[in-house]
Amino acid sequence: MKQTLIEGRNICKTFTGNGSHTTILQSINVDIYEDDFTIIMGASGAGKSTLLYALSGMDQITGGKVTYRGTEMTGLSENQMAGLRATVFGFVFQQTQLVSNLTLFENVAMAGYVGKIGTPKEIRKKAQNLLRQMGVESARDRLPSHVSGGEAQRAAIARAMINRPGLIFADEPTGALNRSHTEEVLDLLSNLNENGQSILMVTHDLRAAIRGNRLLYLEDGKLLDELSLPSYDAAFAKDREAKVSGWLSSLEW
Ligand SMILES: Nc1ncnc2c1ncn2[C@@H]1O[C@H](COP(=O)(O)OP(=O)(O)OP(=O)(O)O)[C@@H](O)[C@H]1O
Ligand SMILES: [Mg+2]
Repeated sequence: MKQTLIEGRNICKTFTGNGSHTTILQSINVDIYEDDFTIIMGASGAGKSTLLYALSGMDQITGGKVTYRGTEMTGLSENQMAGLRATVFGFVFQQTQLVSNLTLFENVAMAGYVGKIGTPKEIRKKAQNLLRQMGVESARDRLPSHVSGGEAQRAAIARAMINRPGLIFADEPTGALNRSHTEEVLDLLSNLNENGQSILMVTHDLRAAIRGNRLLYLEDGKLLDELSLPSYDAAFAKDREAKVSGWLSSLEW
């Protein structure tokens, strides 16, 4: 039996402004399991990012509850929540959000200092090892503006990994990358997942979606369907693409 990492119950999200209410998430029930590479798909505006932020506690929900390993996040103070986000979750976004005046190495190490994962020396060593593992060691002393998009994203993944997160949340991490950098980053994520890292990723891209073993489809703020697949194997990528593509067509994606 897989362990449940995140349990979302009746998640509702309504935006209020100018006297009107817009309901984005409509009573969503969803569990996210350990070791899975879970994907969220759906049309633009379906609520994918909103759901990701609701499940990660980055954004307050207006109804329902979210628990992480049995601890209710909706009941935590802003401070406790910030601590959880810094030490238990890792985040990767479309734009890397690396700090522009820090080198790749400093960006990764800084996240370790914030997470207080060890002594400064231990943190620097870990940052170095992670940058090596992500294949960007040679660019470690450059600023984000002086590396390619793929290198910057790999450094951002190293930053997300430094606190040994229970779960990585990724919102279209390949959305701003060209084809070859996309494949590099996807290979990296597949590799992390193979080594036990749980990942929850929003994507528009079929090539990214096939990396997952569990695909959720969101429509108008509701979970419409899901698809389970065996773990990713590059040798069967074409078959997998056909299967996912057929599933998406059946949902009129
Ligand atoms: N702060 C906000 N106030 C009002 N409406 C919002 C706010 N944030 C998001 N929305 C609306 O909520 C809906 C869902 O947004 P969300 O960003 O979750 O969609 P998405 O599925 O991630 O779309 P995309 O694929 O384009 O990134 C959209 O219609 C969006 O305009
Ligand atoms: Mg989005």
